Formats: sequence, C-alpha cells, structure tokens
Amino acid sequence: MKVPVIAIDGPSASGKGTVAARVASRLGFHYLDSGSLYRLVALHADLHGIDWDDEATLAQAALTLPATFCDGRVLLSGNDVDQAIRAEHIGIGASRVGALPAVRAALLQRQRDFRATPGLVTDGRDMGSVVFPDADLKIFLTASADERADRRYKQLIGKGESANLPQIRQDIIDRDRRDAARTVAPLRQEPDAFLLDTTELTIDQAVEQVLAWFADRASGA
Ligand code: DC
Repeated sequence: MKVPVIAIDGPSASGKGTVAARVASRLGFHYLDSGSLYRLVALHADLHGIDWDDEATLAQAALTLPATFCDGRVLLSGNDVDQAIRAEHIGIGASRVGALPAVRAALLQRQRDFRATPGLVTDGRDMGSVVFPDADLKIFLTASADERADRRYKQLIGKGESANLPQIRQDIIDRDRRDAARTVAPLRQEPDAFLLDTTELTIDQAVEQVLAWFADRASGA
C-alpha cells in the first residue's frame, strides 16, 4: 500500500516547519524538514572552506554527509548541529547551494527514503512538485513578507540574539526571489496544492486546517 505523504511547501519563515512538525505529531507520522538537508550542505561548505558555488564538491558532500535525525535534532557525524544550521548566514548559504542542480539531484533519494509507515509530513520548496509529486495532500503555506520578518525577528529576540528588522525583511525578500527564480525546482504553488495564507492565522488554526484537509482527502471528500 502507498504510504501517505503530506507535502507542505512555502517561502522562508512562513511557519511551515512548525505547522508540519505539529501535524506529524498529531497524526503519529514521520517528519522531514527538507531545508535542514540543504542547511547541512551549507554548513559543511562553511566548515571546510568550500565555495557555495562549487557544485561538484557540494553534490558529492550531499550524497555522503553523515547526517542523522534524533528527537527533532539534526546531527552531523553524531554532533548536534541543530543550532548551527539555523544561523541566518547558513540559511542564505542553503538557498545558494539549493540552486545547484547536482546538489538537488544528490538529495532526492535521501529525502524519498523518509517515506515510511504510517506516513510522512514534509516541508520545503519542492516537496509537492519534485520529491513527492504523488503526495496525498499538497499545501502551499505562506504569509506576507512583513509578517514573516516580524515572526523571525521575535524568534531571534526570544532566543536572546540581536536582530535588525529591516535587514531580516530584506533577506527574506532576497531569499524568496532566489528560491523562486532558480531554474531547477523553483518555489511556486503547484496547481493541485491548497493555498494556506497564515498572515492572519495562529499556528493552531493552521494546523487544524491542514488536518481538516487531510481528513477530507482520507475520506475521499
Ligand atoms: O526551509 P528553510 O528555510 O530551512 O530552507 C533553507 C533554504 O534551503 C531555502 O532558502 C532554500 C533551500 N531549500 C530548497 O531549495 N529546497 C527545499 N526543499 C528546502 C530548502
């Protein structure tokens, strides 16, 4: 039997990761944060002085990186790098390495391997379009750039980090542009994806909406 997949795609800082993780936990499904794989490649480049445009070297790294996921944390060679991969400059690097076709190809099977019973919830940019085109439910989750910048700002301040709101907003706009303009697997809403605009929604409301759509799908509605 086909293992069900819920694919949630959308721009950076839209809250899709939080929503996807909560939906996975409510359903008892596995969860894949595909952005973490791109972030790991960017972190690896940063640690080893590899240029973010060095496609062949980074594709090889993407194939072989000893990454594991444990209790919601990301490990590289057994070391917890969860915080390191969430740094702003690694996010920008992830967007750069994600524009390289050979890196995307190298990560394809690694992502598909996460599909396991009883089901998978995954978030990223091309989960519904490229990685799991046969997903049972596809969602394009977004929010206005102002709202996303505001959320990211509060998140950083909450963690005790310094943050500059206009700079964050500009980074978000630049990243959206790069993720949407690339030739391979650009960020866009698939024709068969539901649009979920969370500008005016709480996380809980967004989670309930995804679960309601999935229940409709499961009942054949
Ligand atoms: O979801 P995120 O912000 O952690 O992703 C970081 C970057 O990784 C994003 O700007 C583009 C890239 N990415 C991608 O190209 N494809 C994905 N499926 C997920 C992330």
